[in-house]
Amino acid sequence: MTALEIRGLRKSFGSLVVTDNVNLDLVAGERHALIGPNGAGKTSLVHQLAGQLAPDAGSIRLDGHKIDGLPPERICRLGLARAFQRNTLFRDLTAHENVRLAVQSRHGPRWNPFVRISDRHELADLAEASLSRVGLAGRARIAVRALSYGECRQLEIAIALACEPKVLLLDEPTSGISPTETRQIADLIASLPASIAILLVEHDMDVVFALAHRITVLHRGAVLASGTPAQITADPAVREVYLGGRRT
Ligand SMILES: Nc1ncnc2c1ncn2[C@@H]1O[C@H](COP(=O)(O)OP(=O)(O)OP(=O)(O)O)[C@@H](O)[C@H]1O
Ligand SMILES: [Mg+2]
Repeated sequence: MTALEIRGLRKSFGSLVVTDNVNLDLVAGERHALIGPNGAGKTSLVHQLAGQLAPDAGSIRLDGHKIDGLPPERICRLGLARAFQRNTLFRDLTAHENVRLAVQSRHGPRWNPFVRISDRHELADLAEASLSRVGLAGRARIAVRALSYGECRQLEIAIALACEPKVLLLDEPTSGISPTETRQIADLIASLPASIAILLVEHDMDVVFALAHRITVLHRGAVLASGTPAQITADPAVREVYLGGRRT
């Protein structure tokens, strides 16, 4: 079953084509890595999937529902969540407060704190559960400014999980963190339930090859190749533009 279906997606910034007729299927539950050189258009694609950037043409379907053109909160409610490449956390609030706020803003009036006590408890439970799932249960009451950079990345994933997604987009979850923290994040991603399909943008090939069932390579906005890790490693065009320096 296809969780996310991308067909003929196109996006340009002036004369720069950043998404060039992209077709991509994310199968339910799969871990799919999106790789490519700097500027290949990976983040621009993620922005379009999550509703932060409107495509010029093409379609995006989540569980069969057309989501292109919908606002990010709607897309999130329909089951697609993302963790951001840049830091979007409130540094003076605790980890728990950050997750709660994100859920409140995403769920809108349903989570209005003045509505019902039971909803407030449900909200706190959801935040608690998301923090536990990423290994931050013991850090829930700590202000973000006191968390390590790696813990912030975990928290960003917790915020995305609080959306209870069927599809999770992770844009470079290991960028700028230590090798130890990178392993922790990779283990965390591996431990997420199989019910969540993950599209993982990642530059660290060890993480990609450890996690991905399939890999899609973007080059100048277009899909250069898509296949299993073995197929991608053996693909001459991929080796030429991207993996040429990797010893196998
Ligand atoms: N808002 C924008 N306006 C104009 N050009 C943009 C905009 N956003 C991105 N670009 C350009 O689009 C191209 C693709 O950028 P994008 O950030 O999607 O690449 P990327 O594959 O995520 O790169 P990286 O690996 O460095 O994160 C780049 O040339 C970038 O400079
Ligand atoms: Mg990027």
